[in-house]
Amino acid sequence: MTNQLLPSSTLKSVPDWAKALSDEAYFAQEQACLGAVWTFLGFESDIPNVNDWFRTTLGGRSIFIQRFKDGLKAFENICPHRFNQIRCEDKGNGHVICGFHHWQFNSTGDAVGIPKCKEYYGKTPAEIGASLNPVELSVCGGFIFGRFGGGESLKSWLGDGYDILAYVTKGSELCGKLDLKVKAHWKLMMQIGLDDYHIVAVHPATFGKNGYLKLTGFKYHRIGVHSTVMMASKQREVATIAQQCREGSFFLGSGDFLLFQFFPTLVVILTQPVRRFGDDYCYLLIQHNLPESHDHTLTHSRFYLMPFSRSAGFVRRLVRKVTAPFIKVFFKYYMRKVTQEDIDICENIQQVAHQIDGQIQPSALEERLGWFEEVYAKYVTDSIKQK
Ligand code: FES
Ligand SMILES: [Fe+2]
Repeated sequence: MTNQLLPSSTLKSVPDWAKALSDEAYFAQEQACLGAVWTFLGFESDIPNVNDWFRTTLGGRSIFIQRFKDGLKAFENICPHRFNQIRCEDKGNGHVICGFHHWQFNSTGDAVGIPKCKEYYGKTPAEIGASLNPVELSVCGGFIFGRFGGGESLKSWLGDGYDILAYVTKGSELCGKLDLKVKAHWKLMMQIGLDDYHIVAVHPATFGKNGYLKLTGFKYHRIGVHSTVMMASKQREVATIAQQCREGSFFLGSGDFLLFQFFPTLVVILTQPVRRFGDDYCYLLIQHNLPESHDHTLTHSRFYLMPFSRSAGFVRRLVRKVTAPFIKVFFKYYMRKVTQEDIDICENIQQVAHQIDGQIQPSALEERLGWFEEVYAKYVTDSIKQK
């Protein structure tokens, strides 16, 4: 249902936290606000060669990220000549040349090749001075972040999460990807990942099969505007994990689980689901909820096998080689199942999003969700009110 179909009195009754779920215009404002904060855009490993690029969105605007000889750069995906879309596919390799009149741009976004420039404009490309709008980029451990506008550094924005992100993909082997279209607002997907209360009702065959979690079993921490959940039995602190990541000595233990939520759209999970033949098979699961519209999200997931904590001789290496493929199939099956179960709930909520008329009341197992909404209010709703 779109907001055009709703009487304005209905829209007014929707609280601020939920307005972007049912109102396309509010969604556009929400995205414009979020474009100003460091936002995960994609992986450096997806564009390994010079002139590799991928397209995505930031702040509701189409952008592309490209590897040039002098590094990664990102620009708005619109030509300054007649405003054609420059990148019309999701990824590719090639110089930055607009398909409408063949203007060519360099790595600083300047239009340096303009066909018949002197003859048709009476000027050189430098005199015309046209350029692409840049997006500020910063990379942490192969995770590319971008934003429009200035402010604190990515390191400062991520806090202790910076060292953790910089470490987790090191030596990890990419095992699979899962891209799903979700008919729901992106925030519903983030909220469900910040909720440990739903597991019995929604994941009865997996996370919830042993019943509700004990309140004392998990510890929740804020990391600036982000958050994490970890097992209380491991008695860890975020700063200690970050320190171990800096030293290269952080490994998961048996039955371990840690989830990091990086505001606004990134979720990173470290888990040890299986122990076989004396080895812990530890996985890194990364979920990125890319907003498409007020009621559509692209959920990109990928999972990695992390390095083993113990060294291995010939026999153990052989055992790992034989065992790992079976565990990967098992893990991928459960990743798909659990993600789809979450998506079904988010899509259910989306169908009645225009009827939301109250505040979320987080239980003790939804504490991180309350924190997330606090941050959302600061960067989105308060910011919209001030405009
Ligand atoms: S619109 Fe891009 S070159 Fe004309
Ligand atoms: Fe879930």
